[in-house]
Amino acid sequence: MPGTGNVMRHVISVHDLSREQIEAILDRAREMVPIARGDGRSDLLAGKLLSSIFYEPSTRTRLSFETAMKRLGGDVVGFASTAGTSVEKGETLADTIRMVSAYTDAIVLRHPREGAARLAASFSDVPVLNAGDGAGQHPTQTLLDLFTILTEKGGIEGLDVSLLGDLRYGRTAHSLALALAKFGARINLVSPKGLEMPKEVVDHLKAARGFGTACHGPEEIIADTDVLYVTRIQKERFPDPVEYERVAGKYRVDLELLGKGKQDLIVMHPLPRVDEISPEVDGTPCAKYFIQAFNGVPVRMAVLAMVLGEGGDAE
Ligand code: NCD
Repeated sequence: MPGTGNVMRHVISVHDLSREQIEAILDRAREMVPIARGDGRSDLLAGKLLSSIFYEPSTRTRLSFETAMKRLGGDVVGFASTAGTSVEKGETLADTIRMVSAYTDAIVLRHPREGAARLAASFSDVPVLNAGDGAGQHPTQTLLDLFTILTEKGGIEGLDVSLLGDLRYGRTAHSLALALAKFGARINLVSPKGLEMPKEVVDHLKAARGFGTACHGPEEIIADTDVLYVTRIQKERFPDPVEYERVAGKYRVDLELLGKGKQDLIVMHPLPRVDEISPEVDGTPCAKYFIQAFNGVPVRMAVLAMVLGEGGDAE
């Protein structure tokens, strides 16, 4: 449940955040950039302890949350995989959450099951931040994606944002689409057949007048696109490996494709990438995915400051 104004409790879904709350986080993130770079110091979260509990692999999300906490003078405990934890003995998520909620001041959770973060919040006395729940949502990724669009394009309203890739299982695409609709962007959905955006997200975009077009190949929309948001096919979510093989390698962003796009097109990706962006794109001015990954630090500092900093403990 979100709080009012700038006070937040859990961050589970983009639906929990108002446009005003998102703007407040992004403003705060801007102030955090020098500290995120190591150019300034802060002890805003001194004495606060975050638990970072990851039931699924992660590089950027986990390390940027930990970096954010430590840059603000706080500390982190947790696990990066369930190996060696009581999860291996059969402990339930509810019981693990009860423990870490008693030990620490906030919890960052990544879990393979959709709905796990919401469930965790119901067993926690401290804020729960959803760092990805299966094919569900990834709200803090969305905040850093919005921050990146805002800083690279100067605004969001009126932009054509094309989401390319596995829109069925890709949680970053689900959260970002829902958030972009709050900001007046036009969202185009580009996926291989069978990996289309879930109907409830499409319906929401249509109701919010944020839906542009849906198609199966990036060539169809590249000329009209301002932001091309590329995602990986979520191999681990496929019930049948044969189905994965059918769609693997179906799209690739390369210089030839970008040559058909606008001069000031930007390319984003939550990372990790597999083969969906050719490395030759990395050296072009379009490529924003590494700065996007860095932006995870100031944005997560802002989120942590808002749930743990002054005024952030109140519900
Ligand atoms: C994404 C995720 O975990 O959903 N990664 C991330 O957090 N940056 C995207 C992905 O794994 O494809």
